[in-house]
Amino acid sequence: MSAYEVVIAGAGRLQELETLKFEYREGRRKREGFVLRYQGDLYAYRNECCHIPMTLDWVDNRFLSRDRRHIQCAGHGALYEPGSGLCVWGPPAGSKLAGFEIELRGDDLVVKIPRSPSP
Ligand code: FES
Repeated sequence: MSAYEVVIAGAGRLQELETLKFEYREGRRKREGFVLRYQGDLYAYRNECCHIPMTLDWVDNRFLSRDRRHIQCAGHGALYEPGSGLCVWGPPAGSKLAGFEIELRGDDLVVKIPRSPSP
């Protein structure tokens, strides 16, 4: 599947457990994603819960649970593993956040967004 690239300037400098949101398009629809550094590695996910298609962060850019061990949905509290996006607790348990391929280019992070047909 073809993809286009979204470059997030400076995201390569995120510190452990820091997150950063970004915007992208799926067809004509504007969407949000976020980048997270976890155990030294960077991950990029679509900012959308697997339970109900709503954003995970009600407080802007706050994605982690209180103990900072999981990504937590503000809706009904679902907990996702930061490194895999797997939901380990909550209504969508067993589902996975949509993740993106990424590539570091210096301090910038390139997120590869799959192209979807325009509606
Ligand atoms: S909307 Fe995320 S757990 Fe319900």
